[in-house]
Amino acid sequence: MVLGCANVANVSATKRIAVIAGDGIGKEVIPQAVKVIEAAGAAVELTSFDWGADRYLSDRVTVPPDGFATLGRDFEAILVGAFGDPRVSSNIHAKEILLGMRSKMDLYANVRPVRLMDASLCPLKGIEPRDIDFVVIRENTEGVYGDLGGVFKQGTPDEVATQEDVNTRKGVERIIRYAFEYCASNKKLDGSPRRRVLMCDKSNAMTHAGGLWQRVFKEIAAEYPNSKIETQHMYVDALAMQMVRDPRELDVIVTNNMFGDIISDLAAGLQGGLGMAASGNLRPGKTSLGQSGMFEPVHGSAPTIAGKNIANPFGAILSAAMMLAHLGMAGEGQKIEAAVLEAVRQKKTTADIGGTLGTREAGEWVAQKVSSR
Ligand SMILES: NC(=O)c1ccc[n+]([C@@H]2O[C@H](COP(=O)([O-])OP(=O)(O)OC[C@H]3O[C@@H](n4cnc5c(N)ncnc54)[C@H](O)[C@@H]3O)[C@@H](O)[C@H]2O)c1
Repeated sequence: MVLGCANVANVSATKRIAVIAGDGIGKEVIPQAVKVIEAAGAAVELTSFDWGADRYLSDRVTVPPDGFATLGRDFEAILVGAFGDPRVSSNIHAKEILLGMRSKMDLYANVRPVRLMDASLCPLKGIEPRDIDFVVIRENTEGVYGDLGGVFKQGTPDEVATQEDVNTRKGVERIIRYAFEYCASNKKLDGSPRRRVLMCDKSNAMTHAGGLWQRVFKEIAAEYPNSKIETQHMYVDALAMQMVRDPRELDVIVTNNMFGDIISDLAAGLQGGLGMAASGNLRPGKTSLGQSGMFEPVHGSAPTIAGKNIANPFGAILSAAMMLAHLGMAGEGQKIEAAVLEAVRQKKTTADIGGTLGTREAGEWVAQKVSSR
């Protein structure tokens, strides 16, 4: 089974995909993902966009005026690298492009599958691939990422900074409902059913926001009385400890924007590091905005290793596999995942996970494996 999403678009003709490599290692790993998509023979038409720091530094445009409308109207999916460049200290382009895409296109569900491909990749003792197969479902449009707040008396000893944590009933309800739907309609990689939704918050300290999450979690759980889905709650600090102490019982985790950001990087550490982690940004359900999803590796632009041909391309390649599955090309997605798995087992990888290949060479190895399948 492919690192899947519950919400599969209809299977029809060629799918149009926008490709935005972005900054830093995004510009190295995305070409590898594209090579692998082409090797899989997927029925797609790829169109590249130059959004990122280079474009911003040349013409001050982060997103062209009709940018998000074009993406939503003309493309079934978007494949993204990463944004962030030391030359743009404000990070304004990254905020406007990446957070803009998530919020303006209302891609409210960030789905981050966590799967261990080989025991050698996990820093924990005695953990086998079958022990780590869970998913983090992160609310993607609210929380502290709305940039609400302000600074008062800046530069004085009395300076005050506030950052608002926004949680709407609509936002909390739809992400928790999606987590239950995901649990009900996705299996684990060994074919067994998913069976538990764990909601994580910090409601002991953040009582107002946490209270809303707690109430909604109970209400949505009551909508699934016969589904055999178990429910569980953990505070985020306790969950972080549990993820390291024993990740075997984890299944579907749903949480807010910031906690999801943090625990999915921790989860990436369990599967071999940021270079191995894939994600999808989705808008489940039928809306007037259409159903195009955005897929990207979990990692950032890693400026210190950019341009050296050493970044691991597998997170980007696995994100592409996830995208194809979402577009109804499960077979192509599976072929790609199987090839990455083989590369990991044979150590045909970059150095961060024990191999000796460069970014391009690791991508090429996977592409050749895919085309020979
Ligand atoms: N989705 C995104 O576009 C995104 C996500 C996170 C960070 N960022 C941005 O990226 C820039 C760097 O941020 P950061 O250093 O906190 O996070 P990062 O993910 O770029 O890097 C964190 C660490 O992981 C390593 N790493 C990341 N991806 C790797 C890969 N594919 N192969 C091997 N090693 C890899 C890096 O070398 C670094 O040591 C910042 O500008 C940040 O804002 C962007």
